[in-house]
Amino acid sequence: MAKGKYTRSHGKKWSTFTLVLSMLFMLTIVLLMLLGLGIFSLPITTDDSPPTDLSAFRRKISERGDGLGERGQQWTEILSWEPRAFIYHNFLSKEECEYLISLAKPFMTKSTVVDSKTGQSKDSRVRTSSGMFLKRGRDKIIRNIEKRIADFTFIPIENGEGLQVLHYEVGQKYEPHYDYFLDDFNTKNGGQRIATVLMYLSDVEEGGETVFPAAKANFSAVPWWNDLSECGRKGLSVKPKMGDALLFWSMRPDASLDPTSLHGGCPVIRGNKWSSTKWMHLEEYRV
Ligand SMILES: *[C@@H]1O[C@H](CO)[C@@H](O)[C@H](O)[C@H]1NC(C)=O
Repeated sequence: MAKGKYTRSHGKKWSTFTLVLSMLFMLTIVLLMLLGLGIFSLPITTDDSPPTDLSAFRRKISERGDGLGERGQQWTEILSWEPRAFIYHNFLSKEECEYLISLAKPFMTKSTVVDSKTGQSKDSRVRTSSGMFLKRGRDKIIRNIEKRIADFTFIPIENGEGLQVLHYEVGQKYEPHYDYFLDDFNTKNGGQRIATVLMYLSDVEEGGETVFPAAKANFSAVPWWNDLSECGRKGLSVKPKMGDALLFWSMRPDASLDPTSLHGGCPVIRGNKWSSTKWMHLEEYRV
């Protein structure tokens, strides 16, 4: 009695197994037919695009994600052609921004400007922030950020000065100026400054915009026009957003100096502004 029961249930299990097996077999046949007809294709994940394929190169950089922390969606926006200025959204992760601030915070000193006659640093009322330089290639995280800047600007790492971290408190600003030099002293190392990457390490509640007063553009056409301070409305402006980077060129493609690259940091009205700047030269900059 018990034995018969056992045999019956065993036979039932066996037929379920056969059914599943034949269904799998039929599914395989259908899939093979679909594949053969080209209606269905297997996803190929290996990217065999050559290393010189620029669009694949950029995609790989952003997908590699070997930096510190997770970055939000990355995309590039053309701000203007006169000056040549571009915004890279989510260029740095929150963790990278916080890391740069934590490195610089204990060593901040009052910012200076370059005296155009002597080429020496001097105190100034046009620049009231405080700042600190981080040596180029000082650690893995910095090297990673510097590689990313080189990949995006197509300017070699060696042409860059060390990152400068800047802090602006309420009321602090940097009046409009050029990043290029008009003296011989400051172009001895690396030649003229060719471009600047300005990274925002914090959001700013109000004010603190980067403004290009000489830009040849319709200043009020930017989508964030209504959020700009009075100072920000005096030119083509970018609102600081943590992790975003602004690239602008001090030289045109014909190597002439571009006076439309005139730019300033608007006074912070509410909150705190932290930023980091990478200046890049025509030639290798020795550190
Ligand atoms: C500038 O842009 C604003 C907003 O898009 C538009 O209303 C205005 O007509 C533009 N001005 C010029 C001179 O094109």
